[in-house]
Amino acid sequence: MLVTEIGTCPTKALIGGDWVATGSTFPVINPYTGAVLAQVADCGEAEAWRAADASVAAFGRWRKTTAYERAAILRRWNDLVLANQDQLARLMALEMGKPIVEARGEVRYTASFIEFYAEEAKRVYGETIPSQFANKRLFTLKQPVGPALAVTPWNFPAAMITRKAAPALAAGCTMIVKPAEQSPLTALRVAELWLEAGGPPGTLQVLPCADPVPVASVLLADDRIRKLSFTGSTDVGKRLYAQTSRTMKRLSLELGGHAPFLVFGDADLTRAARDVAASKFRNSGQTCVCTNRIYVHESVYDRFLEQFMPLVAGLRTGDPLDEATQIGPLVDGDVFAKVQSHVDDALSKGARALVGGKAGVGTMFQPTVLGDVASGMRILGEETFGPVAPVMRFGDEQDVIRQANDSPVGLAAYLWTRDLSRAFRVAEALEYGIVGINDGVPSTAQAPFGGVKHSGLGREGGKWGIDEYLDMKYVSMTIDEA
Ligand code: SIN
Repeated sequence: MLVTEIGTCPTKALIGGDWVATGSTFPVINPYTGAVLAQVADCGEAEAWRAADASVAAFGRWRKTTAYERAAILRRWNDLVLANQDQLARLMALEMGKPIVEARGEVRYTASFIEFYAEEAKRVYGETIPSQFANKRLFTLKQPVGPALAVTPWNFPAAMITRKAAPALAAGCTMIVKPAEQSPLTALRVAELWLEAGGPPGTLQVLPCADPVPVASVLLADDRIRKLSFTGSTDVGKRLYAQTSRTMKRLSLELGGHAPFLVFGDADLTRAARDVAASKFRNSGQTCVCTNRIYVHESVYDRFLEQFMPLVAGLRTGDPLDEATQIGPLVDGDVFAKVQSHVDDALSKGARALVGGKAGVGTMFQPTVLGDVASGMRILGEETFGPVAPVMRFGDEQDVIRQANDSPVGLAAYLWTRDLSRAFRVAEALEYGIVGINDGVPSTAQAPFGGVKHSGLGREGGKWGIDEYLDMKYVSMTIDEA
C-alpha cells in the first residue's frame, strides 16, 4: 500500500479479490521529477494462471446475475470514481505526467463509460425472426463472451480501463487487466473502487508487470479466456492478433493513428486554430487521435498560422500538479526520443521551427509548430505522440483527401469548413473510423471509437462497445401446432 499526501493506493496485484504480493516488484517513476513513486508487485506466469482460474470461477457466478444487479454495482462504481476524482487525477499526474486539470477531465471521462454501461446492461436485447414454417419459432439470445483480458495503455490510465471493463462487466463477462507498466497505480485504485462498490471477487482483476510477455503469453494461450481487448501500438496489436488466432479469441484492437486535420479556405480561422490546438496538444500530444498532420488551404495558410502560433506559444509547460500547467512531461525516455528524432529529422530536411522545437528539462518538450514540412520527413509517416504540429499547404480538395488517406492507419481525421456540401463529401471520402467536422475532440462514451485499416478492429463506446463482449446465439424451436 502506497501512502502519500494523496491518500492510500494499493501496490499489490489484485487476484480473485485478494491483494497479492509477488516475489519481486518494479518501480513506477514520476516522469516529471524522475523519482521512484512506488514499488509495485511484478506479476509473472504464476499470477496469470491464478488470475485465469479466478476469472473463470467468477464468470460462472457473475453471468448468472441479472442485468439489474450488475447495473446497480456499476452505478455505485461510477459514484465512487467521481467521489475520488481528485485522488485519481493526482495519481495520473504523478505516474504519467498528465496535467492535473486534464487528469480531472479524464476521471469524468472514466466515469462516463461506467455510467453509460450501467444503463446499457439493461438493454441487451435478443430478436425474433419470422419463419417460413408454421411450427417453428426462431430467435436470438445475447450471452456474455466469457472471461476477458484487457491490455491497457499509459496515456489514459483510468479511462481506457473503464472503456473496456464497464461494457465487459455490464455484459456479464469477467475481466483481467494488464495495465501499462508506466501507470499501474491508477489501475489498481480504479479496481479497488470496483470492490468497494460491491464488485464480486474475481470479476475484475489487475496484474501489474514490468515485462508483459510472461503474463500475456499465459492468458493468450488459455482457451478459457475468450476475449482480448488491446489499446496500444499497431506493431504490438499485430503480434497479439497472431497470438490470439491459436485460441480463436474475440478481439478488439484500438491501435495507432496518424490523424490529418484539413483546414479549408472558408474555415473560421480563430475557431479552427483553437480546435487544431485542442486536438494536437491534448495529453501533451500523447493520444492515438491527436492531430499529426495539419493541411491548410494555401489561401489561408499565413492567416491560420497567425492565429495558431500564439496559441501554441502560450501553452504553459511544467509540473503536472500545477493547476496552470497545460503541457506536462512526456511519459518516458523512449517517447521523448521519438519526438526529438521527428523534430531533428524534419529540421535537417528543410522544415522550420516556427514555435518551440527544443527539448526542455527531463522529458519535457516545448510545444512546437513546424512549417515547410514536406513528404519524405518521418513526421508525416510515423505517429509522433508528442507536442509537435507539422503544418503544410494544400491546393485543392481532391489532392488533400488523397494526401490525408495516404497512410496505412485510419483512426481519426478532422476537417474545418463552413461549406455543408464539402463537409459531407470530405467526411465520406476520408478513410478513417472517426471524423471530426469542426470538432477537434469528438471522443465521448456514447459514440463508437475505433479505426479502419491498420488502426484496428472493433469499436469501443456506445451500444457497439457492449456487443464486443456478447456472443449471439441463434435458437430454433419446433412447437406442437394446436
Ligand atoms: C487513445 O488515445 O487511445 C484514446 C483517446 C480518446 O479516447 O479520445
